[in-house]
Amino acid sequence: MLFGKTILVTGVASGIGARTAELAGQMGADVIGVDVREPAGATTAFIKGDLSTAAGVADIVAQLPSRLDALANVAGLSGNTGIVSTLSVNFYGLRALSEAVAPRIREGGAIVNVASIAGYGWRAHLERAKTLVGIEGFPDVGALAAEHGLKDEEGYPLSKELLVLWTMRAAHLPLFRDRGIRVNAASPGPVETPILKQFRAVLGDARVDSDITRVGRAGTAADIAPAVLFLCSDGARWINGTNLATDGGLEASINAEVLGF
Ligand SMILES: NC(=O)c1ccc[n+]([C@@H]2O[C@H](COP(=O)([O-])OP(=O)(O)OC[C@H]3O[C@@H](n4cnc5c(N)ncnc54)[C@H](O)[C@@H]3O)[C@@H](O)[C@H]2O)c1
Repeated sequence: MLFGKTILVTGVASGIGARTAELAGQMGADVIGVDVREPAGATTAFIKGDLSTAAGVADIVAQLPSRLDALANVAGLSGNTGIVSTLSVNFYGLRALSEAVAPRIREGGAIVNVASIAGYGWRAHLERAKTLVGIEGFPDVGALAAEHGLKDEEGYPLSKELLVLWTMRAAHLPLFRDRGIRVNAASPGPVETPILKQFRAVLGDARVDSDITRVGRAGTAADIAPAVLFLCSDGARWINGTNLATDGGLEASINAEVLGF
């Protein structure tokens, strides 16, 4: 389903992004990787770039070919570097890249955002999410955090709540919809990658261990990559604006507890 396709994958130097790029290559796709760090594995092309600033995003976009089939937004921070960098990379930079790349994605192409079970609270915090998603462009995130009284420890879950909400909105934005570009998310639970140790520090061992216990084990990057690539592929042509739980059943378990069934 990906043979001959050109897929832009961010976060290719590690974890889920590295496995997504590797698997896409095995499936016959040309992969253009983006990361702030050099990847160990081979990608068809690699762009060293920083998604945390508008200038960094513009620099990446300037190096891209004129035509892409899909964009997999995998790069992310755990929150351990503070709310400004986390919101910048995980949401505003991701969105700026997606908007800038959209005109290069072929009609019927796809964008896939790696969100997280940590974004589960988007409904509970809907008004905040609507306000922060409603800010257009790449804002001054430091000023925004100060204005809205956002705390560092909220950075990671907040970034994923915004991403889940924006994914649903983006599916209906003319920029994407008018050319049939689907926008979906995949939301993992805990996954054994270098970031997991940081999550333990940011979210606490109890939360991470509880999530793992609910589904029997942590996921692996190899569990997540096929879901991301399925959403990139034409096989997902009728899937749009959805958030695919890619978590071994974790969201279902949390739903049962929260909704009481
Ligand atoms: N591992 C988990 O438990 C887990 C769970 C849910 C969601 N996720 C999400 O999956 C995605 C991938 O995480 P992972 O587990 O592979 O982590 P990881 O730390 O192994 O990989 C993240 C990659 O993003 C890159 N990156 C960070 N800042 C960047 C920037 N400014 N510009 C460009 N690249 C940058 C890093 O260099 C790294 O290669 C993230 O969005 C993360 O939030 C991970």
